[in-house]
Amino acid sequence: NQYKIAVFVGSLRKESINRRLALALEKLAGDRAKFEYIQIGDVPLYNQDHDTQFPAQGTRMKNQVRAADAVLFVTPEYNRSIPGVLKNAIDTASRPYGDNAFAGKPAAVVGASIGAIGSAMAQQHLRNVLVFVDLAVMPQPEAFVQFKDGLIEADGTISNDGTRQFLQGYVDKFLAWTEHQLKA
Ligand code: FNR
Repeated sequence: NQYKIAVFVGSLRKESINRRLALALEKLAGDRAKFEYIQIGDVPLYNQDHDTQFPAQGTRMKNQVRAADAVLFVTPEYNRSIPGVLKNAIDTASRPYGDNAFAGKPAAVVGASIGAIGSAMAQQHLRNVLVFVDLAVMPQPEAFVQFKDGLIEADGTISNDGTRQFLQGYVDKFLAWTEHQLKA
């Protein structure tokens, strides 16, 4: 089975370490998964007044989520929480009320930071949000990646053996979780 994974990277930065982390996970998944990177940077700031004429960028994002088997969130930590741009995308895809694109899908959270706690607080905040939008969030393993220069190349190659093995285990568990949830 090749699973279709909708990937939300919570950074818009070209040189994003979280985008690199997502690419690394994609490589480790190999042909077991197809990663689809969701564009969130052009989704308008959510406004409930616009629920009846939903923004096209929001509809595009929701359709991509609906077409996916599972959702992967790769988030930086901004001021000990998740970036606003990511929260805006999640709020948008969960609305209008009763038309939540995430409902019932398997999901997982991962993230990288240059700081010592490797985005742990942002990931914990994100889990709170994702459970509320009815995603089946993988409980374990957690993966808090402290990014040091050269750890992951621009093409997603991981230079450190220990990190590669750890993230391989993470991807394997996420695909197993996806399979398990889709059968449930
Ligand atoms: C940060 N950064 C950061 N790091 C961290 O470990 N904890 C934090 O609370 C914050 N807060 C924070 C706020 C803002 C507004 C910025 C721009 C940055 C640093 C952050 O980890 C670093 O910039 C990463 O490189 C961001 O991820 P991307 O964009 O490289 O994926």
